[in-house]
Amino acid sequence: MTSPRDESPTATNSNPSSTPRHRILVILGTRPEAIKLAPVIQALRSRPFCRALDTLVCVTAQHRTMLDQVLNAFEIQPEFDLDVMRPGQALSDLSSRIIGALAPVFDEVKPSLAIVQGDTTTTICASLTSFYSGVPLAHVEAGLRTRDMQAPFPEEANRVLTSRLASLHFPPTDWAASNLREEGIRDETIITTGNTGIDALFQTRAGLEAGKLASVAPQLRGGKKLIVVTAHRRENLGAALDEICRAVLQLSRRDDIEILWPVHPNPRVRKTVRETVCGRANVSLLEPLDYVSFVDLIQRAHLIITDSGGIQEEAPSLGKPVLVLRETTERPEGVEAGTVKLVGTGTATIVREAIRLLDDEDEYGRMARIRNPYGDGRASSRIAQRISTFLGV
Ligand code: UD1
Ligand code: UDP
Repeated sequence: MTSPRDESPTATNSNPSSTPRHRILVILGTRPEAIKLAPVIQALRSRPFCRALDTLVCVTAQHRTMLDQVLNAFEIQPEFDLDVMRPGQALSDLSSRIIGALAPVFDEVKPSLAIVQGDTTTTICASLTSFYSGVPLAHVEAGLRTRDMQAPFPEEANRVLTSRLASLHFPPTDWAASNLREEGIRDETIITTGNTGIDALFQTRAGLEAGKLASVAPQLRGGKKLIVVTAHRRENLGAALDEICRAVLQLSRRDDIEILWPVHPNPRVRKTVRETVCGRANVSLLEPLDYVSFVDLIQRAHLIITDSGGIQEEAPSLGKPVLVLRETTERPEGVEAGTVKLVGTGTATIVREAIRLLDDEDEYGRMARIRNPYGDGRASSRIAQRISTFLGV
């Protein structure tokens, strides 16, 4: 495959008396994009890169409250805020709002490079807008694949299409890099960096340990084992989420555990969870926690049950066993490392696997080991370095 713009662009406002400066436009819209791009933004805005690069942030606000939680945690004030979120938004409406609002931002900024992350609607819409504007694109967390366009839906399609449009690819792992090579992407445009989510995690854990960051996550009483649950995938809405809720109900009958579930604000998630799980002993439904508090919470968890992508990456670094509520994953490294197990969405399997981890100490010990398949916490500085080389600074 050939990339749309492989040559390094020239600086936008070169001035013979000062260093030429390039503008970089970072576009993000959801909670996970913000968590994983915050360290990249910090790296690009720190020495030595800040001498030659102006890094501007445009949030689509595909998520509103959950995005703002992360922007606050990392003290990021976006230069542009498109404020597109609507309750229960449909993919096509959301996409047209993002592209319509983003094109004028590209016209105004005239960036030398655009940066996107992951596989959301914001990611693919920003990638398209960048392509239409003739601006080279860098893709953070490139190369994740399930090879099934329906799972996760629509994320698999979003990341495949973004890879076709990008000029620079930053896969987190060797496996992700090999996926890109198999699709014909040129080797010299692929830089394996580790996952920037691990940079965010290590930074936040260090802040908590040093007492510089504070958590408001609930504390448990009475020495119970904490199980953290999250669920939001579009392909799990409906019958699968119903099954997941029934599993949580069955587990909640044990008196040696306490289940905390920060519930995704998607109205379809909330309706099912409230109708099935609300008011049960040993289960607390919470609002989404700010990132710092969530990191504190999963550090205290005994077990995590989730369909989240980001949590699958964080848990191995913390040595926390994860049961993944999906049939397939684009993150096989955590499964190979032994911390993550795919259990699907059937009630019986979820309950059986959770009980095994609660009652079988050997099985628990095998899964609860710290591994770092997703990086060493320095992915963002590798990305900043490669971007500055790409821009010739
Ligand atoms: C999106 C991403 C998914 C990611 C998930 C992270 C796509 C296609 N999917 O999920 O990959 O894992 O975000 O959470 O982009 N809502 C709020 N406040 C918020 C956020 C959401 O009220 O801060 C509600 C709104 O009613 C919104 C709904 O949740 O319409 C769904 O949000 P949306 O971003 O469309 O979710 P997904 O596409 O399911
Ligand atoms: N997270 C958070 N608060 C919560 C639940 C999750 O800050 O209440 C963080 C979590 O640590 C991870 C990210 O959100 O970094 C995952 O986001 P999500 O599951 O919404 O999206 P995905 O990773 O599946 O795309």
